[in-house]
Amino acid sequence: NSLEMTGRHIIAIDQGTSSSRCIIYDEKQKKVASKSHEFPSIHLHPGWTEQDPEVIMSSVEQCIRDVMSQTGLKSEDFRGIGITNQRETTIAWDRHTGQPLSNAIVWLDARNAALLERILAEDAKGDRDFLRAKCGLPLSTYFSAVKIRWLLENSPAVSCGGGTGRLNAFEVAEAVRQGRCCFGTVDSWIIWNLTGGTIHATDVTNASRTMLMDINSCKWDDYLCNFFGIPKETLPEIRSSAEVFGTVRAGHVLEGVKIAGVLGDQQAALVGQSCLSPGDAKNTYGTGCFMLFNTGNKPVQSTCGLLTTVAYQFGPSSKPAYALEGSVAVAGVGLKWLRDRLGVLRSFEDIDAEASKTDTTGDVYFVPAFSGLFAPYWREDARGTIVGMTQYTESCHVIRALLEAICFQTRVIADAMQKDSGQKLRQLRVDGGLTNSRVLLQIQSDLLGIPVVKPDDVEATAFGSAFAAGISTGLYTLNDTSVEDDTGKEVYHNKITDRERKERMDKWDKAVERSLDWAPRTT
Ligand code: G3P
Repeated sequence: NSLEMTGRHIIAIDQGTSSSRCIIYDEKQKKVASKSHEFPSIHLHPGWTEQDPEVIMSSVEQCIRDVMSQTGLKSEDFRGIGITNQRETTIAWDRHTGQPLSNAIVWLDARNAALLERILAEDAKGDRDFLRAKCGLPLSTYFSAVKIRWLLENSPAVSCGGGTGRLNAFEVAEAVRQGRCCFGTVDSWIIWNLTGGTIHATDVTNASRTMLMDINSCKWDDYLCNFFGIPKETLPEIRSSAEVFGTVRAGHVLEGVKIAGVLGDQQAALVGQSCLSPGDAKNTYGTGCFMLFNTGNKPVQSTCGLLTTVAYQFGPSSKPAYALEGSVAVAGVGLKWLRDRLGVLRSFEDIDAEASKTDTTGDVYFVPAFSGLFAPYWREDARGTIVGMTQYTESCHVIRALLEAICFQTRVIADAMQKDSGQKLRQLRVDGGLTNSRVLLQIQSDLLGIPVVKPDDVEATAFGSAFAAGISTGLYTLNDTSVEDDTGKEVYHNKITDRERKERMDKWDKAVERSLDWAPRTT
């Protein structure tokens, strides 16, 4: 109606692993206001990471209220809502009551390692790439289908509600039998709640992270659903990344506003960095670290341990674009661990001050394999390792070694990407909260041997979802993105020799060797 069409703003909801944020953009794609809230994960056992779905939702609602009151804008001022989210994290809820049936199992969570080993041995002929041709992904603890399977087999034996006191009316498997279970990633959970429980939908980028979607047809696949024993009717409807999913329920501060753009956070960052042509790549340093390389309208299968994923689909009748992805599980979450668990870092603001107390790590190498190692290794049995310590070692060396670890892994992924794509990376576009660390970006340029380019606005994730919502509601047009304008960008250039780079990479490889095979295999 005319009221909705007069809105000149887009609100982006960015629900990440460590925090939720909301950013408002105007019709010129300029940021008007931003608010974020950190919220806790729950670690009940080694390798487990869960979150309370209601806490996720209330942190989102809090951010929405905060940016609205900060700006004084009303629901009629908005043309649409963009949603972007931590991917793979899996939630089961009751479609009749809207209540969660368990805590969210976070993408980092590796509780399903034994189940994965069983699937590998019994159903996949020991081949991690058994399903790759269909879904573009290797069998790993990371993806939603293995988390859903775990919930079906184990809930509520392992305390639904995760000790947070939530009572569950139904265990997950029983809820499935009764036809009342909805599974979804965090985007679906937010859409469900904002629309008052009327829409159970996801976008194609999030669906491409479940292992249940055919990467070519972009539909739920019968073979994959049967393989994991997951009934299709429990899954959300797959939509494109830029269309109207539904409108916000009555009584909400955003009542009547259209949810018009949805993307997984790493794909949103690709869009937000304007990497819309084949060959464009970006690396986002958040809780984890994810490099995506746009491969155009064809899915490219990796032979080097990368993932094939949907990058975006701008409207139901547009062709999807694909990307190769290298995923690193531990980036910001490693610094959080140094801050909250070891207490050697006072705050994130101190990262550079601490890391600059020294020029080197003093030969310390830190492999933060807290959830195993992701790309290109895919080893859930790897564990965190710090090697090379002496009495000389101080916390600044360990902090710097963690920054290096993030950059070493990025380098290994960049090599794999160049092999898979046959294209040479000439520079790396970066974004995400951790890019506030100049030390990190200098190390990254040194270890890659190419320039690292940081744009003025590093909130590419939120902007990507706002952009999708803007194009589907007609506020923005596809070839009108403010990101091309690189004013304020910072560029970092390599300062080390090829020989030094090689020596450090060789040492990193040795440290990785030491982190592998630590956890006892259970089957
Ligand atoms: O695949 C997990 C990823 O989407 C998490 O992103 O920003 O929370 O590190 P982030």
